[in-house]
Amino acid sequence: MAEKREHWGSKFGFILAAAGSAIGLGNIWKFPYIAGENGGAAFVVVYLICIAIIGLPVLIAEILMGRSTQRNPVGAFKKLSGSPFWTVVGGMGVLAGFIILSFYSVVAGWSLGYIFESIRGAFSNFTTATASGDHFNMLTSKLSWIIGFHGLFFLITICVVYAGVNKGIERGSKIMMPILVFLLVILLIRGLTLPGSNEGLRFLLYPDWSKISGQAVLIALGHAFFTLSLGMGAMMTYGSYMSDKDSIPGAALQIVLLDTVIALLAGLAIFSAVFATGQDPAAGPGLIFHTLPVVFAKIPGGHIFAFLFFLLLTIAALTSAISLLEVVVAFFVDERGWKRHQAVLVFGSVTFLLGIPSALSYNIMINVQIFGMTFFDLADFLASNILLPLGGFCISIFVAWIWGVDRALVKLKNGAEQFFENYQWRVTAWRFFLKYLSPVLIFIVLLQSMGLLTRIIDWITK
Ligand code: PFF
Repeated sequence: MAEKREHWGSKFGFILAAAGSAIGLGNIWKFPYIAGENGGAAFVVVYLICIAIIGLPVLIAEILMGRSTQRNPVGAFKKLSGSPFWTVVGGMGVLAGFIILSFYSVVAGWSLGYIFESIRGAFSNFTTATASGDHFNMLTSKLSWIIGFHGLFFLITICVVYAGVNKGIERGSKIMMPILVFLLVILLIRGLTLPGSNEGLRFLLYPDWSKISGQAVLIALGHAFFTLSLGMGAMMTYGSYMSDKDSIPGAALQIVLLDTVIALLAGLAIFSAVFATGQDPAAGPGLIFHTLPVVFAKIPGGHIFAFLFFLLLTIAALTSAISLLEVVVAFFVDERGWKRHQAVLVFGSVTFLLGIPSALSYNIMINVQIFGMTFFDLADFLASNILLPLGGFCISIFVAWIWGVDRALVKLKNGAEQFFENYQWRVTAWRFFLKYLSPVLIFIVLLQSMGLLTRIIDWITK
């Protein structure tokens, strides 16, 4: 007999779990470095606009599809459309979950490994980012280190998901999310009280519009998707454990706010310390693993803050990884009738194995190039730049045009009567963003990802 579907114990539990999915490496690792590379504050403003006009409406749509159908992404599309085409779109989400989790846990594994590095004081002698970069390369070239921590991180993720929606994911989020906020506040205070940290504040808070390019806008839009876990059904799956009494727009607003505030605070904590110690804010993906260890070597009590920082990063990654695995598990439980425990063990192991080539992209497979990219970069590109925007595009088209905004609104109003009462503009805004703005803007991001946009612009301007 099929197992009974679990539900969140409370609305708060759902918000924490969904915010846990949203807040991850994207906020603490990726957001600061892409903001650093694209001009700081001006980028932040563009990013906030993208979150408000695309992220929030699509997030509401995803949660709604899940809650209305009480199904995983494949089941949700199947139930609402009855068409094989849309069912494939749901399947694409499950596939994206597999792929993202496979390389996400490699980076999370580095973070876990760096907790141990900070405990043994490995960063204390670094004076330059080159020395710290060499240390990173030395660690990632060791098979036992890179696969070992990738595996350990997976094991923890599997244990949480194995315990179930209430006892694993919800309970885990209720413990981990407050710790995450607490750690971030300590690191922020440390960063802001360093002499010379003002420059970091200025960098992140005063916009320099000359630095904003079309490319930066597209990066901001793409990141809005990644950071809110949109486009692959993670929020749909979490929404499917929700009951009709809770307000979706209210919860979505809180998830977006939490995600944005945490990204900004992480950016402030990191840049205040980076500027105070004279490091390069535009160091790219190496900002966390190359630049920050030097920062920790230079500040008083640095090894303790290093430990707290990598603990924070690992917790953030864990609550996101859980949601990725849950998408895959929910699919096999709902659609294929698997037992939850069996699905977690089998697909947890399969995804771990799929991550090994990504892990090896930093050592023995460093020269293996597919379409000019390493396996790791290819998995990241395919999932973040193609599958997520494509999924987001299809979800907004589906809810706005196929299921229909009016039918969706009837469901959306369940539990959200107060949110919409006397606020007709909220309905109008959601309708407009979802029907027109999101599909058009996401489509442009997608074209850009496929390199088509630049070719079209060249062709027009020739
Ligand atoms: N939102 C996560 C982050 O910012 O790190 C990444 C992510 C998690 C993307 C879950 C997609 C997803 F389904």
